Amino acid sequence: MCGIVGYVGPSEVSGRPLDVVLEGLRRLEYRGYDSAGVALVGPGSPQVASAKKAGKLANLLAELEANPLPDASAAVGHTRWATHGGPTDRNAHPHLADGGRLAVIHNGIVENFAALKAELLAEGVTFLSDTDTEVAAQLISRAYASSKDLTVAMTEVARMLEGTFTLLAVHAEHPGTVVGARHDSPLVVGLGDGENFLGSDVAAFVAHTREALELGQDQVVTITPSAVEVIGFDGAPAQGKRYSVDWDAAAAEKGGFGSFMDKEIHDQPQAVGDTLLGRTDLDGRLVLDDLKIDEAVLRSVDKIIVVACGTAAYAGHVAKYAIEHWCRIPVEVELAHEFRYRDPVVTEKTLVVAITQSGETMDTLMAVRHAREQGAKVVSIVNTNGSTIPRESDAVLYTHAGPEIAVASTKAFLSQITAAYLLGLYLAQLRGNKFPDEIAVLMDELRDMPSKIQAVIDRGDHVSATALSMRDATSVLFLGRHVGFPVALEGALKLKELAYIHAEGFAAGELKHGPIALIEEGQPVFVVVPSPRGRDSLHSKVVSNIQEIRARGARTLVIAEDGDEAVLPYADEIFWIPQAPTLMQPLLATVPLQIFAMALATAKGLDVDQPRNLAKSVTVE
Ligand code: G6P
Repeated sequence: MCGIVGYVGPSEVSGRPLDVVLEGLRRLEYRGYDSAGVALVGPGSPQVASAKKAGKLANLLAELEANPLPDASAAVGHTRWATHGGPTDRNAHPHLADGGRLAVIHNGIVENFAALKAELLAEGVTFLSDTDTEVAAQLISRAYASSKDLTVAMTEVARMLEGTFTLLAVHAEHPGTVVGARHDSPLVVGLGDGENFLGSDVAAFVAHTREALELGQDQVVTITPSAVEVIGFDGAPAQGKRYSVDWDAAAAEKGGFGSFMDKEIHDQPQAVGDTLLGRTDLDGRLVLDDLKIDEAVLRSVDKIIVVACGTAAYAGHVAKYAIEHWCRIPVEVELAHEFRYRDPVVTEKTLVVAITQSGETMDTLMAVRHAREQGAKVVSIVNTNGSTIPRESDAVLYTHAGPEIAVASTKAFLSQITAAYLLGLYLAQLRGNKFPDEIAVLMDELRDMPSKIQAVIDRGDHVSATALSMRDATSVLFLGRHVGFPVALEGALKLKELAYIHAEGFAAGELKHGPIALIEEGQPVFVVVPSPRGRDSLHSKVVSNIQEIRARGARTLVIAEDGDEAVLPYADEIFWIPQAPTLMQPLLATVPLQIFAMALATAKGLDVDQPRNLAKSVTVE
């Protein structure tokens, strides 16, 4: 949600500040693309030089081409997901103050901006935009006027603001400095050689350095070409946590694919494989090194609540089936924003599992804080190193999906399911619900999944061709049962997000209780068919559901296991997936649905990486 980049380096390297910041914005554009802007300062420049344009980064690049900016030594850049004020040129960041000498960019929401703005208006300040950010800029300007110290001014203002924010500021009188502050929004420092960087996440600077400094909550950072200084909002010196980024810039490139989404779908075998790597000791016992909660506490857990949003919540739904089955612990799955505000029953014996790709989703962060306040232990399942939620959790289980750039999640989903399964098996091992040899069998089944996922991807052409023939569809339904139900929900979400088509997922058993009324001649319905080798006659029940909708005119698009001949008479299209145990099937059955949504959106000429109105990292509630 808004991408932020800052750079400071030696003034003699012509063009570098702007190049670094634009490159960073390109990599952060997934966070928001309502507008983009940059501000530069250099030795001797009387004012900040800036440019900003509504719309995607390409518009800003065209503007800079037409009206180049002078050379500089420090720069900040912003890509916006609009909150206060529409997505216009006027509301684009940076916002200037102090007679054009100060530029400020912001990610988050200043909740008390109205009162602060009224105060400034009463003092005679005029505003050029409708944003809360400009209020922060004017406050920093006012504070700077007395101290002439940008760090002091930023710290003073940070203490006044309520809400969530990352702020960066540059001032023409300090051409070798960028100052940043963070409260509940992300900001990381990139440590260079004679230059330093700031970014909403490491993608902003990973092309230049993989050495990073994680900032804590309520800290202000001042970067110069040779130094990085961190203080708390109280002005006391503070320390960031240094770490090395374990992926390089190439991992955040399209690698020859037409879109990040296409690449990330193809990354999935590796993402799942990497998430499984190094999780067992020489005796085959699960060892989750990054899970640091006392074993006695984990043994006493009597309820698990998964909190997450969007796709991550569906990963939680899948995990519920597995964890309850393996561990015999009740598992609830709740959207983080609903959990937070409904007085849930949480005790010291509750284990809250927060699932999040970004590690920054504000709704999930608030749920984590709420759970811990109630005495629960929190394990987070997170993909992004150095993000906020792991730092605020009791333990973290990292997925190793690599950077996910496309806004709609794909590989993170499969690796979240994998990590949640690891957690479930670890608890089963610890609590004695499963014998070691049973766990070893399940681990072997999981280890078989990457090659099976690859086989599904290899069969993607049939899915894409079907999608192409459906580019005029206006509604698509998705049915599944057991773990196929959350897969159906995820399939519908992908289609909504990417192709802007009405799509709904239902539990197949619920069909007869209402949704069947939607079925009319030609209505496309995806059906996820469970393994015929599974238990509890799940398979035959779903096959009956297919017959019921087909009898009413539905066009059935069936995802079924290799060799499942029972579905053949009732399938208008069939997408085969390799055989796998029921609980593993979501790792396969999701993939054709991802490919379908991507291919249909592409056929409609839509941008699959940056769907309208969405942002990847939603850092507002
Ligand atoms: C946004 C994204 C979704 C994502 C959700 C949760 O809405 O568009 O793709 O599933 O946030 O994000 P998280 O980073 O917490 O997994």
